[in-house]
Amino acid sequence: MVREERAALESGPVRYLESGAGWPVILLHAFPLSAEMWRPQLERVPEGWRFIAPDLRGFGPEARGGAESMDEMATGVLDLLDALQIDRAALGGLSMGGYVAFAMLRREPERFHAVILADTRATADTAPGRAARKEMLATLRAKGVGAVADAMLPKLLGETTRRDAPEIEQQVRQMLQACPVDGVAGGIQSMMDRPDSTALLDSICVPTLIIVGEEDVLTPPADSDAMAERLSRSRVVKLLRAGHLSNLEAPREFSVALADFLASPL
Ligand code: MLT
Repeated sequence: MVREERAALESGPVRYLESGAGWPVILLHAFPLSAEMWRPQLERVPEGWRFIAPDLRGFGPEARGGAESMDEMATGVLDLLDALQIDRAALGGLSMGGYVAFAMLRREPERFHAVILADTRATADTAPGRAARKEMLATLRAKGVGAVADAMLPKLLGETTRRDAPEIEQQVRQMLQACPVDGVAGGIQSMMDRPDSTALLDSICVPTLIIVGEEDVLTPPADSDAMAERLSRSRVVKLLRAGHLSNLEAPREFSVALADFLASPL
């Protein structure tokens, strides 16, 4: 059963979803979604594990204000771990969640015994990427979250999902539209300013699972291969017929890959 919880932290209140009991696994969501994104995995927690998915700063149904940096989002999650008295955990993030995971690993690497990087990349934004983010900020300010949702949806979901699973598109649209303008703006600015984490990969010596949808056009499989090349202990799983939101588009396969990794990390 998925439980909805709240914590009053020094860095601000946070809502999180939780399921299972045992060793903690932290799951960080993509932009511009929320912890809700992880429901398929929260509904299939392997025995002996406890999955915890927080809303990142500026996202989710109870968000107030937006984050100013990936580091601020990382602080919120680290504070939550302190509040829950979690000293050691497996840390996973999908896309922007991966960027936040990098910020956490930079600060407290010893706290994490395994890492899951899904549909993400270690590199910072390119100059054209930054220009596109600026345009998205302008669209957001002029036309609201709905216009950002319209622009992003075709890229967030793979071709197969868009053709065969309109219910997933609907679900993602609802999550997108529930995000407050300030939160989305903070997310865009934070992603635009995030540092390059490529060198950080060399220092990650814990087992790392990389998952990517074969149809991901935002962080394509080549980005995953590039991360695997720098990591000393990694496994790459490519999910067929899934795009950027691979955990929603191929939920069963994603959960199986995650459970296999947790049961026998590299
Ligand atoms: C995400 O899915 O979190 C974002 O699309 C990542 C990005 O735009 O870099």
